[in-house]
Amino acid sequence: MKTVTSIADLRDIARRRVPRAFFDYADSGSYSEQTLRANRADLEAIKLRQRVLVDVSERDLTTTVLGRKIAAPLILAPIGLLGMQHGDGEIHAANAANAAGIPFTLSTMSVCSIEHVAEATRKPFWFQLYVIRDKGFSKALMDRAVAAKVDTLVLTVDLQVLGQRHKDVKNGMTVPPEFRIRNVIDIARRPAWAWNVLKAKSKTFGNISGFVPGMENVNSLAKWTADQFDPSLNWRDVEWIKDYWPGKLVIKGINDVEDAQTAAGMGADAIVVSNHGGRQLDGAGSSISMLPRVVDAIGDGTEVLFDGGIRTGADIARALALGARACLIGRSYVYGLGAYGQAGVAKAIDILEKELSVTMALTGIGKVSDIDRRIIDDGQPAKKPAAKRARKSAAKTST
Ligand code: GLV
Repeated sequence: MKTVTSIADLRDIARRRVPRAFFDYADSGSYSEQTLRANRADLEAIKLRQRVLVDVSERDLTTTVLGRKIAAPLILAPIGLLGMQHGDGEIHAANAANAAGIPFTLSTMSVCSIEHVAEATRKPFWFQLYVIRDKGFSKALMDRAVAAKVDTLVLTVDLQVLGQRHKDVKNGMTVPPEFRIRNVIDIARRPAWAWNVLKAKSKTFGNISGFVPGMENVNSLAKWTADQFDPSLNWRDVEWIKDYWPGKLVIKGINDVEDAQTAAGMGADAIVVSNHGGRQLDGAGSSISMLPRVVDAIGDGTEVLFDGGIRTGADIARALALGARACLIGRSYVYGLGAYGQAGVAKAIDILEKELSVTMALTGIGKVSDIDRRIIDDGQPAKKPAAKRARKSAAKTST
C-alpha cells in the first residue's frame, strides 16, 4: 500500500483502480450537485474551539448505538454495488467493520446477497431495505435478513424516485458493465479490478436477480428503480414494516424537522439525518445544517444518527457536537474499498478514528460521550464575569 494519510488519498487511488462508471456512480451527486457540495461546505464552515491544558492522555472512542457498545461512533452506510468497487466488496467491507468493532449495513442493491454475506462473515450486520411495489418481495427480504441474523433494519425512505446522476447516464452504468467500447477499454486498463470481480461469486444484484420471476436480468439500477420502487410509499407503510420487522428499526433519509417528529412519534428506534449523500433532492439543505434542528425537535426516545459528507475525524466531532449519536460513512470507505479492498476499508476506518482522537485531544475532550456543543466556536465574545473570574484566580495563583 502506498503512503496513505487521508480519505482524499484513498479517493485518488480508487479513481485510478476502479472503472470509471463505478467510481463515478459512488462519487457523484444528483443534477448540479449543489447538495453534494453543501454537505461538505457546511461541515467545513463549523469552527472548533482549540482548548489547551486539559489532561487528554486517555481518550475513549467507544459509544453505544441502539443499546450496543461500538468501538467508535461510526457505522458503514448502505451503499449499492460495493461488489463493483472490488470483487466481493460487501464481504470485504463487512469484515473490515467487524474487525474494527463497528456495524456494517448491507444494501438491498448489493452485489453479494444477504445469505452470501452472512456465510462469509462472523458477526451480525445491519440490513437496508428499499420498499418495492411488490410488498411480498419486501417481506421476503426481511425474512431473509432475519434468517441471516440481522437485528437492525435500516429503512431508506428518500429514494421514492431516483434523482438523476448525469454521469451514470453518460457512462451507461449497468451491472455487469454494458458492452460499450469505452467501457471495455476502461476495464482492460484495470486488470487487478477485473480479476477480483471475475473471481467473485456474484456479478449482479445478488438480493434481487433470480428471486423475483421476470427479474433474472436486473442490470440497470436506474431502470430497476423506475420500474420497481414504490413511489406511493408513505407513513402507513412504515407502520406495517415496523409491525413485521422483529428487531430494531432505523429510518434513513430524514432531512426535515416535521418528518423527524413523525418518525420519532411512530416509534422508530433511530433516524438517520441524511439527504442520500446529495444524490437525491438537489437543492436540499445539507445534512449538517438540519442535524441540530432535528435533535432539538425530537425527544430522547429516538437516537439521531448522521450521514452526509464525513471525510475527516473533525467532521465526526462536528456532527457529534451537534447531537448525533454516531455517523454513517459512505464514500469515505467506498474509496478505501476501491483502492485496496478490505485493507482499504480498514485504512479508511483507522484514518477517521485517529483523526477523531486527535480532534478530541485538541478540543480538550477525553471521551466521545463528552463531545457536545461546547467544542464549537459560536463566534460569541466570552461572558465578562467569567473572564474577570479567570483573571482574579490567575492573580491569586501568581501571588
Ligand atoms: C442508491 O442507493 C443510490 O444512491 O444509487
